[in-house]
Amino acid sequence: MHITFRQLKIFESVARLLSFTRASEELHLTQPAVSMQIKQLEQAVGLPLFEQLGKKIFLTDAGREFGRYSSAITAQLEELDQVVDEMKGLKRGRLTIAVASTANYFVPRLLATFCQRHGDAVSVSLDVTNREQLLKSLVENRNDLVIMGQPPKDMALVAERFLENPLVVIAPPGHPLAGEKRILPDRLREETFLVREQGSGTRSAMERYFFANDLRLETPMEMSSNEAIKQGVEAGLGLGLVSLHTLAMELALGRLVVLDVVKFPIMRNWYIVYREGKRLSIVAQSFREFVLQEAAQLLQLPAL
Ligand code: PGA
Repeated sequence: MHITFRQLKIFESVARLLSFTRASEELHLTQPAVSMQIKQLEQAVGLPLFEQLGKKIFLTDAGREFGRYSSAITAQLEELDQVVDEMKGLKRGRLTIAVASTANYFVPRLLATFCQRHGDAVSVSLDVTNREQLLKSLVENRNDLVIMGQPPKDMALVAERFLENPLVVIAPPGHPLAGEKRILPDRLREETFLVREQGSGTRSAMERYFFANDLRLETPMEMSSNEAIKQGVEAGLGLGLVSLHTLAMELALGRLVVLDVVKFPIMRNWYIVYREGKRLSIVAQSFREFVLQEAAQLLQLPAL
């Protein structure tokens, strides 16, 4: 199969943006040039990688499979690029991190301090996603580092704990349970809960708590972001279970309250994670050290 690196880059861009026009803009090429390269790539592979339905394009099964391999190759080549730069003594570096949605409430602050210290020598790419996607990104070696809750035991990973992640039950200030002391889990039985999507670490911790306390999640309302949950709870749709990291503003403004439920907070932890055997770039290595040594002092959680 004769494929060029340039074709892989073009494929990657079209597959990510699902648009020949946007890919050509991103790559500073003309659209016919992009279409031509994809056509040649499809000829080399011997199968269509994209299909057009109406005005939209989609990846075919072969396209998706091709994408898995091409992102692994691209990641390896980028790593090689960085290794060569480092061998040449270049100080500039790129840091690619993927973090759990909830970590988005503090990682930008860590990045700000880290980047200030390094002037403009570091460029950063931050991917915010849920646990399931983070695991995928580790398998595909897509990022330098991942920040997530409890890492899986069945993958060969280096996972270092650096911060606590307390999960709490939130309610609007006028809720009947607000202000009550030591609420028993049983009192939650009648409540409607707004829950995070499947694949979220917060969601699995919540399910474990409900199971351990013999509670059923009654007709839960599923929402795919912490923001939606907080807005929903504020609007009176039900109770929510979120990380204390997400609540600084709402607690300070009195828009939400944390309920004093027995066995809460559920204590999870944050880990900085990469694949065993991965060669961390100089920038990634120094970000990892910075997080392990300083994150806990730099980040203040709201008081309970
Ligand atoms: P989440 O991750 O944002 O996907 O819920 C947080 C966690 O794993 O604790």
